[in-house]
Order: sequence, then structure tokens, then C-alpha cells
Amino acid sequence: MSAARTIRLRPGADLEGFREAVRRLVHDGVAPEAVAWVEGDAPSLFPDEPPPGGAAPALALPRAVAALVPPVVMHRDPERYGLLHRLVGRVAGGERHLAEVASDPLVHRLALMRKAVGRDLHKMHAFLRFRRAGATTSGRERFAAWFEPEHHILAEAAPFFAARFPSFDWSILTPDGSAHWDGARLRFGPPGRREDVPEHDAFEAGWTGYYASTFNPARTNLAAMRAEMPKKYWHNLPETAAIPGLVREAGMRVGRMIERAPEAPVKRVPARALAAMVAQEPASLDALNAIIRASEPLVPGATQAVLGEGPLGARIAFVGEQPGDQEDLQGRPFVGPAGRLLSAALREAGIDREQSYLTNAVKHFKFEARGKRRIHQKPTAGEVAHYRWWLDRELAFVAPRLVVALGATAVLALTRRQVPITRARGPSDLGGKPYRGFVTVHPSYLLRLPDEARGDAYAGFVDDLRRAAALAAEPVPSAAPV
Ligand code: URA
Repeated sequence: MSAARTIRLRPGADLEGFREAVRRLVHDGVAPEAVAWVEGDAPSLFPDEPPPGGAAPALALPRAVAALVPPVVMHRDPERYGLLHRLVGRVAGGERHLAEVASDPLVHRLALMRKAVGRDLHKMHAFLRFRRAGATTSGRERFAAWFEPEHHILAEAAPFFAARFPSFDWSILTPDGSAHWDGARLRFGPPGRREDVPEHDAFEAGWTGYYASTFNPARTNLAAMRAEMPKKYWHNLPETAAIPGLVREAGMRVGRMIERAPEAPVKRVPARALAAMVAQEPASLDALNAIIRASEPLVPGATQAVLGEGPLGARIAFVGEQPGDQEDLQGRPFVGPAGRLLSAALREAGIDREQSYLTNAVKHFKFEARGKRRIHQKPTAGEVAHYRWWLDRELAFVAPRLVVALGATAVLALTRRQVPITRARGPSDLGGKPYRGFVTVHPSYLLRLPDEARGDAYAGFVDDLRRAAALAAEPVPSAAPV
């Protein structure tokens, strides 16, 4: 075994530095306990050694291990590199399936670290708010945001904002570093200060007012709000300034809502205001639903948007196609004939509908009027794509363990692929989603079958639901690819 070594890496998440070093360490047979991992110019336990010349040969690691390395490197725990060295050393030493052994304490700890980083990324995507910060010399609008991530995720998170807000210049400042977008290029720079970001801007008043007007007092659940949007992020979010007052008034407003029966007409918001709201990532399912509720249907005629229904954190989410006639009138998913059939099949499969989340790929009813009847029209691929932004975020907020795609439109919405159900039916990764997937037929397909074929098809559907429930009950794999 060779002597103790100090490995010096860049501060933050130095993935390249770690990869190079770990190849060398494993190649030279250096034990993890003989290595001091040091960030920047911090002092070290062992004297620094000059780096050995020449690159060590690449390590062929199982996918599950290779997928664990980048997120763990982003974790703030100073032990992260040593723990990963341990993992890579054991895998290279012959424990090829180690990353799948969820009960191994090292694997368990690394899986928790990866999860924490994933959560942090989700929070940054959801809770970062840009404020107007003047104009550039060329006249482009400039925005700035302050954020305090728990882990070293800035470089990983920034491309999301470049894709989402390509047309204005922005900077994201954090205590560890900054990211800057000029419409063409993403650059990273030194840490920023909260004081460098304007406290308020004109747009915030609009957002806060809008949030206040759409806040649903009947659904006030402070515990759920805090779990989804921890208080530490509140100071960054203009809309949260309204929360304490709204919560205080909630009881009174519920009373008024009940008096104001039957249903106030849906208040739609002008397209420009809506676009501005969409440009600010909604911070909660309620905020997202407010946007959906206020949006015009793509094809005119629908009474209202039909939102998803069920608890946040439901173990299983079901995605259908679009609301039907009854759903459109009642404003609830799966309450018409197909919904009743789905409810019966869920009961037979032992799945509690109330504990599941039910939603649709498309949120408005599309139909052709024939006399007094409204005949369902299948949404086009373009219409499905239009609603995908909402569906993706909705499922991210609900965070189910398993999503069941009911029929081909749901598969298209979730995977962007047109696949016949006969081929896709069964467990599926739905194109690499953070939840498990299962594909089955749509209940209205069963309703369209001739009587003599329906019994068997229904039994097959119930069987699929049972398999899906079993899959949702399995523990989440410790090292699925990120
Ligand atoms: N069909 C669907 O896909 N969704 C509903 O909500 C009702 C019928």
C-alpha cells in the first residue's frame, strides 16, 4: 500500500478533479483512510504530495455507481469525496452490485446525500425569484436573483434558468458563486451578496396581488405549505409576503365563499399577465393551479379547467387524457362514466382512490357540438405538448412514487413518444422520470368494447392496477440513474 496523500480539489463541486484523483488512487491501491481530501487552500492533515505524472486508466464502473457520483459531489458534506472513494474502491475491488445494496450503510448514506441534493435542486428551480435590475448598455432588460442553496448546485441548476429565461439577461448570486446569462452564454463568477439584488420590483406587486386573489382559503394547510415551501425560502418569494394576512383571514373568507354559492364564474387573466406569471416558476401546487385555472382553453368551449385531485405525496398518481363532459361541468377529474369504471377497478385492485392523485394530460374538455350533445374530441399532439409544462410541474409537486399512464395520450404527455398501448403496457420508466411508471389502457377504451369482450378486458385492467399497486409498494431503489 502506498503512503498517505493529500488531494486538493477546487472548492465546491469539483467533479473532474475527483474523477481524476479517484482513478489514480484506485490504480495505486491507496486506502481511503490514507487520503486527506482538501478543498481550495484549506490546511491539510498530511503534507501535500506533488500530483503523480500521467493520467491513470479510466475505471469501468456500473451505471448505478457512475450516476451516484455527480450528485454526491455536489453535497456540502466535507466527507463526500472520501465516502465516494470508499464506494469506488469497493466496487473496483469486486463488489460490482454494491450500489444496489440499499442496506449497506455506505450506500444508504450516499443515497440520502443524493436525495438531499435532488431536493435542493428542486427548491432552487421552484423558489428562485428574479427581480428587475435595470437595463444593459445595449438596452436589454437585466434581472437578478439571490439564492442560498444548501449544496453546491449552482452549476447544475443554472442551465435550467438559461433554457427557461433565454431572452433576458440575468444573474443568480449565491454565497458560494454566481451565474450570469447574457442571452447566448452562461458564465460563472465569484460569490455575490444579497444587497446586490434589488429587494422589490414592480412585477412583484402584480404577482403578490394575483396570489392573494387566487389563494384558496378553504385549502389552507400550513403544515403542507411549510413542507413544500420551507420558511427559509419565504424571504425570496414576493407572494409569501401575503401569506400571514391571508391565513389570518382564511376562516372569514371560507365563510364568504360558502355564502357566495353556487359557483363564481372562473376569472380568466389577460394573456400577457398570464405569460408573466408562467415566466415565474410557481412555488406550490396551489400557485400552479391558479395559473391553470386562469388560462384560456386552447380550443374554445370548455366551462372550466379541470385540475388534478388528491393529496400531495400520494403514493400513486393516475394520468388520464382530458376531462369529459361531466368532468367539464363539475370541475373534477374522472367523475363521468369512465371515472366510475376507474373507481370500481381501483376498488377491486385494493387501491384507495381518495389516497391517490388523479389528473389529466390536458386540462380542458375539447368537443364537437352535435345538437345538444358534446362529443369528445381527442387532443392533438400539439395540444398535449401545450399542457405538458403544467403536468410536469404538477407531478413534481405531488411527488408520487408511481405514475400510471392511462392510455396513449397520457403516454405521449409523459414520454413525448407516440407508442401503441399494446407495446407499452406494463412497468415503464416513462422516459427516465424521477418516479416509477406503469402503462395501461384508458378506462373509456373498455367502455367502447363490445359487451362480449369487455369482461376479459376489464379483468386485465384490474390486474394491471394490482401490479401497479405492488410496484408502488416496493422500496425505492437506492441508486437509480439520476
Ligand atoms: N377521461 C379522462 O381521461 N379523464 C377524465 O377526467 C375523464 C375521462
